[in-house]
Amino acid sequence: MTPQKIIIDTDPGQDDAAAIMLALASPEIDVLGVTAVAGNVPLALTERNARIVTEICGRGDIAVYAGADKPLARKLVTAEHVHGKTGLDGVDLFDPGRPIEKKHAVDFIIETLRSEPAGTVTLCLLGPLTNIAMVIERAPDVVGRIKQIVLMGGGFFEGGNITPSAEFNIYVDPEAAKIVFGAGVPLTMMPLDVTHKVLTTKVRVERLRANGNRASVVMADMLEFFERFDEEKYGTDGGPLHDPTVIAWLLDPGMFAGRHCNVEIETGSELSLGATVVDWWKVTGRPENAFVARDVDADRFFDLLIERLGRL
Ligand code: BDR
Ligand code: CA
Repeated sequence: MTPQKIIIDTDPGQDDAAAIMLALASPEIDVLGVTAVAGNVPLALTERNARIVTEICGRGDIAVYAGADKPLARKLVTAEHVHGKTGLDGVDLFDPGRPIEKKHAVDFIIETLRSEPAGTVTLCLLGPLTNIAMVIERAPDVVGRIKQIVLMGGGFFEGGNITPSAEFNIYVDPEAAKIVFGAGVPLTMMPLDVTHKVLTTKVRVERLRANGNRASVVMADMLEFFERFDEEKYGTDGGPLHDPTVIAWLLDPGMFAGRHCNVEIETGSELSLGATVVDWWKVTGRPENAFVARDVDADRFFDLLIERLGRL
């Protein structure tokens, strides 16, 4: 089987790190490059964190590109209260050996989409959508060449996590999200409705740690930090592990359930800025523009994640 070619656009983040690890551990996936965006922490940290994570996976050969350092039209909002000061709190970080690429992330994505055969590259979006909105605006010719976009973002039945109605990735750059959801690219959305069902329970984190290899132990340490904030917030055993759901969708879509819907992004209202308005019940007649996942088999998800990270 030919591996699926992907670009990971990310703002690591412990859960972003888990997604990168899952992708790099999976032979079904060929990571063409990793692009960083400002989000959980500022760009200088997200691009460094991305390089650190690839090296922990023994894949220092993966090129990492820095992209937008702020949203299209707003001030950057970050989430150190969740991820810690570095974005990857929970482990000792080190200076990565491989430097950041000189090329801008947006140029890398555009050039890759032009040089790879049309319809073969999937964009996996794990942070605010700024970089991809810039690609769409700057190079409309590449939009039709994107195989699909799979993103973690939004929330509908579950509400928001940064405001009552908005999820963090969409809230940080709602104008970018509007461009991405309106681009006409086949799009799959992993909202909070799904990610709040994949909880890093004690038993699951211990199973991961028991793999014994460096990547699994590092991830277990990161998760023990990462889940603290959410355990307190939600009163659960473990916290949601958002971003790896994007990679799990590529590996085993059968573990998810959802439907094709229209999704619009709120950019005007101060009260509900960044809300993903999902027409789940088809009451508007607006055209479908996304497959919205709503459910997941959490045990199947963690079986996959733990087994794969054990291979690194
Ligand atoms: C999303 O926001 C970030 O904090 C996480 O990395 C994830 O991408 C969850 O709302
Ligand atoms: Ca993220």
